[in-house]
Amino acid sequence: MNILTFRSQDELNKAGAGIITGLLQTNPKACLGLATGGTPVGIYRELVETCRQGLVSFSKASAFNLDEYVGLDRSHPASYYTFMQEHLFSHVDIAPERCHIPDGSAPDPEAECVRYDSLLEEIGQIDLQLLGLGHNGHIGFNEPDEELERGTHVVELQEQTRQANARFFDRPDQVPTHAITMGVGTILKAKTILLIVRGRDKAEIVKRALQGPITTECPASLLQTHPHVVVLLDSEAGSLLS
Ligand code: F6R
Repeated sequence: MNILTFRSQDELNKAGAGIITGLLQTNPKACLGLATGGTPVGIYRELVETCRQGLVSFSKASAFNLDEYVGLDRSHPASYYTFMQEHLFSHVDIAPERCHIPDGSAPDPEAECVRYDSLLEEIGQIDLQLLGLGHNGHIGFNEPDEELERGTHVVELQEQTRQANARFFDRPDQVPTHAITMGVGTILKAKTILLIVRGRDKAEIVKRALQGPITTECPASLLQTHPHVVVLLDSEAGSLLS
């Protein structure tokens, strides 16, 4: 695990975007596993700028997002579909048919999980999986539990997660109670994992995830078992690491 700590958000964003750009420059057909939330926004901004400058192209790449809320239509302003359009997809030259996000409005969410897994099966392996970190140690929406699921599944969101994400909705009670998420098996199968964490409020969970015991009660701790993990932290998120 390669842990890098940055003094400024700008340096962190440039480093994160640089890793993704480097991958696309050497492997234009790379399959990217992508995340939403506050953490990757600055990295997506850098990628959009790099693409505008003509230094990188997404035209042959494909993308699989980690998760989506159950019950939200794609057009909902807080859907992860909308998020990805706003922050990345509509600003770069990626082919829309190669941008995959679970459909949260599918009438049968379980069948949607099977469909998503079969698409993932077809590509075989994600080349680079971008991850943020939940305050409770979740990756994707794999919440702490006695057991974790390997493949895509429907998950009930913990109250802490719903509260943390309430900022993206008009009212806290509008945050959906369930989501569809890629499983930890798929995440850990990725060739390389790029974990990004920012802020003092994540320092405790960063310490637990990276230096604590490997346990399903902190899903991100399973990343310790992966051979190619790069962690980019701001100095606050990394402040408790020894
Ligand atoms: C989002 C996702 C989540 C977030 C995590 C951190 O697609 O899978 O695991 O990465 O909840 O969210 P932020 O970045 O908003 O703190």
